[in-house]
Amino acid sequence: MTRKLKPAVKVSDELKKMLNDAIAIEIAASVQYMWQYVQVIGVKGRAVAGKFKETAIAEMKQAEELAERLWYLNGTPTTQPAPIKVGGSLKEFLEIDTKIEEEGIRLYKRIIDQAQKEGDVTTAFMIKEILEVEEEHHDLFTTMLEEI
Ligand SMILES: [Fe+2]
Repeated sequence: MTRKLKPAVKVSDELKKMLNDAIAIEIAASVQYMWQYVQVIGVKGRAVAGKFKETAIAEMKQAEELAERLWYLNGTPTTQPAPIKVGGSLKEFLEIDTKIEEEGIRLYKRIIDQAQKEGDVTTAFMIKEILEVEEEHHDLFTTMLEEI
């Protein structure tokens, strides 16, 4: 592993820890949605299965993006996911998924504040873009919940 001796931006351990918490959530969400895609049941479930897979892949891409940023900031990305829940019905899937998205959204808002406080404009900007995608996911799951 080659590390930069001096990254252009220096951030606190607190911010690095928050980025790792975000990575843990994204890894968890990715596995959660992919396993829901695999286990989806019923006619309604079949109709929306692709959404779970598509979102699972989007979450893994976000985990990768966060890991790259954290690595650049001289942090080490975690391999440990946040707690993963799958659920036993389409309704449960969507309730659990809405919760993990809300958790992510709350954390991303805190990271933006912290990054701005530390003058790390790039992280703040990057997280704003991720936050936008997370809000879309949240909207997707809550809309699907309304339709059940
Ligand atoms: Fe998401």
